[in-house]
Amino acid sequence: MRMLVTGKNGQLGRSINKIISPEAKTDNNLSSNNFVFVGREELDLNSESNISHYFDSNDKFDVIINCAAYTAVDKAEQEQDLVNQINHLSVKQLAEIAKEQKSQLIHISTDYVFDGESDKPYTETDETNPINIYGKTKLAGEQALQRVMPTDAIIIRTSWVYSEFGNNFVKTMLRLAKERDELNIVSDQIGSPTYATDLAEVILKIINNTNYRNKKQSTEIYHYSNEGEISWYGFAKEIFELADIQCRVNSITTGEYPTPAQRPKNTVMQNDKIARIFGLKITNWKSSLELLFEKGCCEY
Ligand SMILES: NC(=O)c1ccc[n+]([C@@H]2O[C@H](COP(=O)([O-])OP(=O)(O)OC[C@H]3O[C@@H](n4cnc5c(N)ncnc54)[C@H](OP(=O)(O)O)[C@@H]3O)[C@@H](O)[C@H]2O)c1
Repeated sequence: MRMLVTGKNGQLGRSINKIISPEAKTDNNLSSNNFVFVGREELDLNSESNISHYFDSNDKFDVIINCAAYTAVDKAEQEQDLVNQINHLSVKQLAEIAKEQKSQLIHISTDYVFDGESDKPYTETDETNPINIYGKTKLAGEQALQRVMPTDAIIIRTSWVYSEFGNNFVKTMLRLAKERDELNIVSDQIGSPTYATDLAEVILKIINNTNYRNKKQSTEIYHYSNEGEISWYGFAKEIFELADIQCRVNSITTGEYPTPAQRPKNTVMQNDKIARIFGLKITNWKSSLELLFEKGCCEY
């Protein structure tokens, strides 16, 4: 098995790299020799010709795992063409290449394809209605992929990703708490924080799954986030509790914290489908957050 992982410097790319490293001692059958990790230096998703050239000049891959994306939700409102290229057009091109090379494609998408107005957890078949450029381009990427590859691909929608790597809410809270005694955090946006290592492990389990390896499976969307739900305000309080940091957290509304991009109110997703099909036991977000702090790898 030869696997390509895009977004090697991002949270998910680095989390996959960490768990397949020889030191990780996890129970998957895959080793780092099976993987090629690329960042924008090797494979620039902003360039159609660079993408073609990369695949023309490398041996074929059995699986392409697309972890790269334009993820700066607010900045995306100002850079629509670039965001569309990375989150939509490059995904279409990767799907065309995967189809031609008879590779399988695992693509990561987002809870922000939903408008957040539902009062129950979103299922994979619920209507999408993104309310910002990031969500719109991610949805366009999903749809293009499904059109090009009706079989042999998997789309995993995830949410509120954090890790010991890169930029994320957990690290931002730890940094801000060093600078201020109190923080105002929105309490009317609800979601499920997801530890990137948990998602990385799920991706490896899927690759190891014999059903998945059988070609010509229809392309499916799956929701995967850690179990449970919380507001950003509640999440911040839990982070400070676990990190034993004294920082007062004040609850504010979305209206009191205007941002360039609108955010959906409630994007909790139902994870039943992925759990059932791949036999997963999904960890609660609090347990995963505790683990991150226990490992002591979230110092800031
Ligand atoms: N983060 C979240 O809260 C969240 C929530 C829901 C869904 N997701 C989805 O989950 C997936 C993984 O997210 P993540 O948190 O790991 O994102 P991330 O940390 O922002 O990493 C994204 C990676 O994409 C790379 N990238 C951006 N533009 C590129 C280009 N032109 N060519 C090649 N690579 C490029 C970035 O490279 P550089 O490092 O060089 O900038 C970065 O390493 C994405 O599909 C994202 O949409 C994330």
